[in-house]
Amino acid sequence: MEKEIKKVSAVKGVLRVPSDKSISHRAIILNALAEGESRIKNFLRAGDTLTTITVYKKLGVKIEEENGIIKVIGKGLKGLSEPDDILDMGNSGTTTRLTLGVLAGQNFFASLTGDESLRKRPMGRVANPLREMGAKIDGRKGGELLPLSVRGANTKGINFFNKKASAQVKSALLLAGLNSEGETVVVEPFKSRDHTEKMLSKMGAKIEIKEGEQYTVSVQQTEKLNPVDIDVPADPSSAAFFVAAAVLVPNSHLILKDVLVNPTRDGFFRKLKEMGAKIQYTNIREVAGEKVADIEVEYSPSLKAITVDREDIPSMVDEIPILAVVSTQAEGETIIKGAEELRVKESDRIKAVVENLRKVGIEAEELNDGMVIKGKQPVKGGVVDSYKDHRIAMAFSILGLISEDGIRIKDADCAYISYPEFYEHLQQVVVR
Ligand code: S3P
Repeated sequence: MEKEIKKVSAVKGVLRVPSDKSISHRAIILNALAEGESRIKNFLRAGDTLTTITVYKKLGVKIEEENGIIKVIGKGLKGLSEPDDILDMGNSGTTTRLTLGVLAGQNFFASLTGDESLRKRPMGRVANPLREMGAKIDGRKGGELLPLSVRGANTKGINFFNKKASAQVKSALLLAGLNSEGETVVVEPFKSRDHTEKMLSKMGAKIEIKEGEQYTVSVQQTEKLNPVDIDVPADPSSAAFFVAAAVLVPNSHLILKDVLVNPTRDGFFRKLKEMGAKIQYTNIREVAGEKVADIEVEYSPSLKAITVDREDIPSMVDEIPILAVVSTQAEGETIIKGAEELRVKESDRIKAVVENLRKVGIEAEELNDGMVIKGKQPVKGGVVDSYKDHRIAMAFSILGLISEDGIRIKDADCAYISYPEFYEHLQQVVVR
């Protein structure tokens, strides 16, 4: 489906964007491994998280919906059952990588595949350390690419330096560590999102964290996890699009309710503040161990360019496309570095962003590990390609709101992967 987004005169109102994708995945996966029943309120119903539910049902977990609440009946750490067919991971890297960690220490065989985009994404970063722990994993290109198969084994803890600071890798190893002899230690140069370790701690796993020059998290082999009820806050990665819309469109004022502002996730909002955007957190509170706030944001005409460095990336890794969109209106040149990871997301996001910016009349340059965007540029408009990547589709929809001739987005419906209601919510807040 193609969508055309035209210039608007303001963005106004109050929105509760859909729930956090990372926490929703983990609420299902971790509770599937617990003993007993848990309830998940405000679960994200979107392409990727529904994939997680389907996959864990195929692994023998009872997951039901009752009055809008998801009920998971956990099977215990060794209680999953052998699936009778290949597990289809759709577009979801998080489901795939975390599940590889879960399957490493079970006592059965499973095969995993995914859609065209997922089958191109690197899995060796998880498969290799899991093999070091004793897991039996094979797949295309020596286990680098899906389809992959796992035969459960007796695994042992390792000490792993997670050079890429990837939360998916860290989570996979911690999940495998629960069923592995001894201790599993993951060290990161910069702390990646910490939802897995937070949730596991609550469930009774022996998690230890050391923060300093580097971030170290360890887990001991665990007998049993207790189920935990979770109320999932709104996803900062989804809120980011509407925050950007309000910052860019004159006369705008928006309130985004119940947004997760965990410091490993709110880097985009902090960077926007540094650029001079008028954003504030109100009603700051803690929900199920996570920091949550309402975000109030308004039109911010005097934005300044910034530099984004390697250490900034983990807390805003999914927000680089929308940050690039905002930087087209900042005074000066915005430089994004240390972001080569973006080349292996749902699309090559460096290439996708720079090519699309050029298609709508913006000067931008690709770097191996990022991009350079010239600021204060008029957005002419035109046709862009989403590359079937949800975050590219949504980022360029927002740019359409300040374009002279409108922006048409090819395959815009891929937004359903994380935000099925995106275009309806956009309709609700724009003033024509
Ligand atoms: C995620 C981690 C991030 C992020 C992805 C979700 C997670 O990837 O890009 O959308 O839920 O663990 P990394 O593994 O690069 O941190």
